[in-house]
Amino acid sequence: MQYLSHQLQQSNTPPELASLLDVLAVACKDIAIRLQQGAMSGVLGSAGEENVQGETQKKLDVISNDLLKDYLLASGTVRALASEEEQSIVAGHDKGGYLVAFDPLDGSSNIDINSMVGTIFSIFEAPATDTVSEQDFLQPGRHQVAAGYVLYGPSVMLVLSTGDGVQMYTLDQSAGDFVLTVEQVTIAEDTQEFAINMSNQRYWAEPMQRYIADLLAGSEGPRKKNFNMRWVAAMVADVHRILCRGGLFTYPWDNREPNKPGKLRLMYEANPMAMLVEQAGGSAYTDAGPILDIQPEQIHQRVPVILGATNEVAICVDYHHKS
Ligand code: F6P
Ligand code: MN
Repeated sequence: MQYLSHQLQQSNTPPELASLLDVLAVACKDIAIRLQQGAMSGVLGSAGEENVQGETQKKLDVISNDLLKDYLLASGTVRALASEEEQSIVAGHDKGGYLVAFDPLDGSSNIDINSMVGTIFSIFEAPATDTVSEQDFLQPGRHQVAAGYVLYGPSVMLVLSTGDGVQMYTLDQSAGDFVLTVEQVTIAEDTQEFAINMSNQRYWAEPMQRYIADLLAGSEGPRKKNFNMRWVAAMVADVHRILCRGGLFTYPWDNREPNKPGKLRLMYEANPMAMLVEQAGGSAYTDAGPILDIQPEQIHQRVPVILGATNEVAICVDYHHKS
C-alpha cells in the first residue's frame, strides 16, 4: 500500500510542500470526523451569519474554516492563506514557503441532507519578499504548484495534482491515512454526459441556451446523439464525477445578478479544479479562454466555468464565439 507521505516522497515533491500537504490531509481527516458525527454533535444547521459573499454560513463552514486555519498556521509552511469564509487574507509564518487559498466546505447546502461535500485547495509559492499582501495571491492559476480537494462521500478521498498528473487517494479509516488508489486520472476527450443547474435556464446567455437545447435534442437534434444529465449541486462532487467517468460541467454566467460574472470563485474553486482537469487531459474554460490564464483582480472574484472532456468543452465554447 502506498500512503500519501510515501508517494509524495517518491514523486520528488519538495519537502516543505509535502509537509504542507500532509497537514492539509490531517485537517481534512478532522473535518471528516465532524461530518460523520453529523447531528450527534450538534454541528448541522446554520451558524446564523453571512460570509463575505453574502451566503448563509453553516456551522460546519465555520468549523471547517477554523480547523484548516489552525492546522495550516501552526504548520510553519504557510506564509498566508485566503479562504471563502474570510474577508481578507490571513498572515501565517514569516518563513512559510507557500500561499494557500481554500474553500473549506464546498457544497455545504448538502450537509443537512447527508450528501457529498468537500474541501478545495490551491497552492502557490510564497513571494521572496518579507511582507505578504493580497496582491501576492493574484496570479494566474497556471502558477499553482499544487491543487486538489478532499471529497467527503461514502469514502473520503483526496484528489491531488502537484503538476505531474492527478492522483486519487482513499482514506483508510483503520490506518487513519490516505492510500493511493488511482495513479493517473484521465478524462476522455468525448462525452455524452453534462452537468448544469437546469433551473437557471431562463437566465443564461443566448449561446448557452442554444448549446444546452442542442444537447437536450439528443439523437434527433444537430448533435445526433443522446446526452445524459447529472447534478449533485456541490462543485467538488460534480467535478469528481468528471474525473472518474468523464463529462462536461458548467456553471455559466446568468442574468440573475448581471454584474456578477458567474457563481463560482476563481481562486479557490475554478483555479484548483482547472489545474486538476487539465492535468487529467481535459479542458477548463470560461466562455472566453482558459481559466488558468486569467489574471485575477480580487481574491473572491467569480468566473463562469466550463470544464471536462476536451472536445465537448471546445464545442460549448464555440457556441459563444459564433454568437
Ligand atoms: O460553492 C458554490 C456551490 O455550492 C457549488 O459547489 C455548486 O456547484 C453550486 O454552488 C451550486 O449552486 P446552486 O445550487 O445555486 O446552483
Ligand atoms: Mn464552494
